[in-house]
Amino acid sequence: MKSAEIASRWLRYFAERGHTVVPSASLIADDPTLLLVNAGMVPFKPYFLGEVRPPFTRAASIQKCVRTTDIEEVGRTTRHGSFFQMCGNFSFGDYFKETVIPLAWELLTTPVTDGGYGLDADRLWVTVYLDDDETADIWQSKVGVPAERIQRLGMEDNFWSMGVPGPCGPCSEINYDRGPDFGVAGGPAVNGERYLEIWNLVFMQYIRGEGSSKKDYPILGDLPSKNIDTGLGLERLAAILQGVDNLYEIDTSRTILDRASELTGTRYGADHRSDVSLRVVADHVRTSVMLIGDGVLPGNEGRGYVLRRMMRRAIRNIRLLGAHDATMREMVAATVDAMGTQYPELVTDLARIDSVATAEEASFLQTLRTGTSIFDVAATETKKAGGGVLAGERAFQLHDTYGFPIDLTLEMAAEQGLAVDEEGFRRLMGEQRQRAKADARAKKTGHVDTSAYREVLDVAGPSAFTGYDSTAEEARVRGLLVDGVPAHEAGEGDDVEIVLDRTPFYAEGGGQLADAGVIRLGSGTEIEIFDVQKPLPGLIVHRGRVRSGGVVVGADAEARIDLARRGAISRSHSATHLTHQALRDALGPTAAQAGSENSPGRFRFDFSSAGAVPTSVLADVEETINQVLIEDLDVQAEVMNADDARRTGAIAMFGEKYGDRVRVVSIGDYSRELCGGTHVRRSGELGLVKLLGESSVGAGVRRVEALVGLDAYRYLAREAVLVSQITDVLKAPRADVPERLSQVLARLREVEKELEKLRAAEVLAVAGDLARAAEDVGGTALVAHQAPDDTSADDLRRLVLDIRGRIPADRPAVVAVAAAVGGRPVLVVGTSGPARERGIKAGDLVRVAAKILGGGGGGKDDLAQGGGSNPAAIADALAAVGRSVAQRAAAA
Ligand code: SER
Repeated sequence: MKSAEIASRWLRYFAERGHTVVPSASLIADDPTLLLVNAGMVPFKPYFLGEVRPPFTRAASIQKCVRTTDIEEVGRTTRHGSFFQMCGNFSFGDYFKETVIPLAWELLTTPVTDGGYGLDADRLWVTVYLDDDETADIWQSKVGVPAERIQRLGMEDNFWSMGVPGPCGPCSEINYDRGPDFGVAGGPAVNGERYLEIWNLVFMQYIRGEGSSKKDYPILGDLPSKNIDTGLGLERLAAILQGVDNLYEIDTSRTILDRASELTGTRYGADHRSDVSLRVVADHVRTSVMLIGDGVLPGNEGRGYVLRRMMRRAIRNIRLLGAHDATMREMVAATVDAMGTQYPELVTDLARIDSVATAEEASFLQTLRTGTSIFDVAATETKKAGGGVLAGERAFQLHDTYGFPIDLTLEMAAEQGLAVDEEGFRRLMGEQRQRAKADARAKKTGHVDTSAYREVLDVAGPSAFTGYDSTAEEARVRGLLVDGVPAHEAGEGDDVEIVLDRTPFYAEGGGQLADAGVIRLGSGTEIEIFDVQKPLPGLIVHRGRVRSGGVVVGADAEARIDLARRGAISRSHSATHLTHQALRDALGPTAAQAGSENSPGRFRFDFSSAGAVPTSVLADVEETINQVLIEDLDVQAEVMNADDARRTGAIAMFGEKYGDRVRVVSIGDYSRELCGGTHVRRSGELGLVKLLGESSVGAGVRRVEALVGLDAYRYLAREAVLVSQITDVLKAPRADVPERLSQVLARLREVEKELEKLRAAEVLAVAGDLARAAEDVGGTALVAHQAPDDTSADDLRRLVLDIRGRIPADRPAVVAVAAAVGGRPVLVVGTSGPARERGIKAGDLVRVAAKILGGGGGGKDDLAQGGGSNPAAIADALAAVGRSVAQRAAAA
């Protein structure tokens, strides 16, 4: 049974049993505690927690997931994949244990011909949580699983949570016995490789607190209702149903693996080491494609780093298998082939995915070339010094200077039998991070500890944003933090974070900067607000300082935003949409948004593009945008279903889920985008948009920066003044300015050349006299001359050669000329052939003189140059050259 068929049977089975089919959410988790979606239940977390009322009580999905904690295991075991699809069915306060258990059993054991998966019931084993007798009883008496195939395991295995505070509960796992080829008997409690876990049924009913391990956290209480969250590993079931030994050999992965094997000329199954590499490649390339497909771009932090690491490991392994050129284009195509049936958006988005992947590959191959030679030197030195450990500093240098990831250094060191001082490396990294942190203003809360905010959210409840329509609001203070700690009151001078029940303040997000403004309480309290953030979904935090009076939770307040700032930001945001559309029209749909920042009067827009955007295209884009302004199009925001939005052709951003209500902002018929930001009412309000230019901000990503409204006007006005000043100075009409300026510059270059000639002639004028006045030092003609200050080094050389040429060629001759150039002494020495035959060399003489000048120098035997720091010593230095010549002449 193909993967796509497993998926469709799943959805059909649950749809027929009253479940709403929900398409996979984006891998980019809409959850500050998570980098990437790693379980089917993630998009539903707010339903479990009771934060949001679910639109249905039963749901089923096939959710894309990425887990990278076991990345080292990938390719080595048969069951670890970094990307996988979790088939799930969910009940939100609807059915519970006694329903879900038989439901799962039926689907697994119903014959294939009747729509099930047709697993042999005798091969299924189940596990339950230690004291969960109720579940064990359902398995035994309701389903008929024999007692000896029901095992009890502890918290680590049979109690599930997301690893962070949130929903949790005991679980029961269904395992499939793959037979004696996979090891000893004894059930899943004994052998996880043989008794493969395929389906986890979680009885989601509690809330957990902080804790560091899988079994060490407090249960804080009950969820608002008893729920079901199940997850079946699609790839694992596919391996069983397709009769293959591991995840990498199922239909989808095998297509990718085979392509890697073709490209590298490595036969799968030939030897263990290359098999592992092939499996790593198949797994990592697929994960990378799925991540890029959902809008992740390679970077050095967060998800960007997960992607970069995946790609780098894949590329490294491809190289280990013998391919040294770029292969990503073919590998991406094979992946889209394999996954396109289930995810048709990959097919439409192929060009963009390809451009991101190949650009990252190109830059990494370059890094590899440089880094590998640096690494080799370091490894050889380490071994030569008799050490087995590569210094942490070296690993850090490779990382910091050459962009060599530490995991790669570790791998390459291991290949050479070396260890790496990882602790040293991490210490240096830590120090660097400290420095970086000190630089950046700690503006946003890191996503690490949100517990204080959660505490406030629990008490205050979610805040309503009313700022699309209103700019001032009567509200109530629902929560307060002082110095990051929940507080009941605050006084004058305190830096506070305030939560209101409703607010017109826009929190920074979606590329739009936060509103600023003021919150006033009765009795003269005034709090100036300069930042607004959303540290948790639903929680809007106003950051500011109490200017006068005091504030206490529960007080009535008036929140008023700074209108000028909001207006300017909204204009920028609307302009960003126009730019996005105009770029797509000019460059094609691959010019997808990769980030943006909308600030007052100015915005920047990042988008994918394989190369630079030509100036002429940029000029066209700018004109198109301004044309739209003149048309004064109506701007509308409409809230609708994610699916309806897709149908209207709205530019889909990433992260929206099926069933989600999304906001679509349209500017006439020209642009339509999913967007939560604030906008103008008509495009004419923008007045003017001026693109300032385009640049690169990383592999495959370009940035346009622009000004809007009065800021654009002022910029152009300044440019106009500048041109006027130039025409005044040049005394030329505007249209002639470029021509006139080139003429002036050309004339200037000519004059400079002439001047140069004259100066050289002047310098050389003395050459004849100097040559004639050469002193005889033990049979060698010596000229030692101090030239006027600021004779250039070029002229000094020319003078030396000229003088030397005037002395008869068969005479040993030494010419030394020095001058103070820009306050520093410069000395040039030339020797003739016969002098050199006597062992008198220019380089030696310069070294002697340079020591006296307080510097150094050198050169060849016939001509050398030196310098120093002390121009007052020039006469001494020249005298020293004379003495040195005398000594050498005597010795010859
Ligand atoms: N959330 C559970 C898991 O990830 C079941 O879906 O295993």
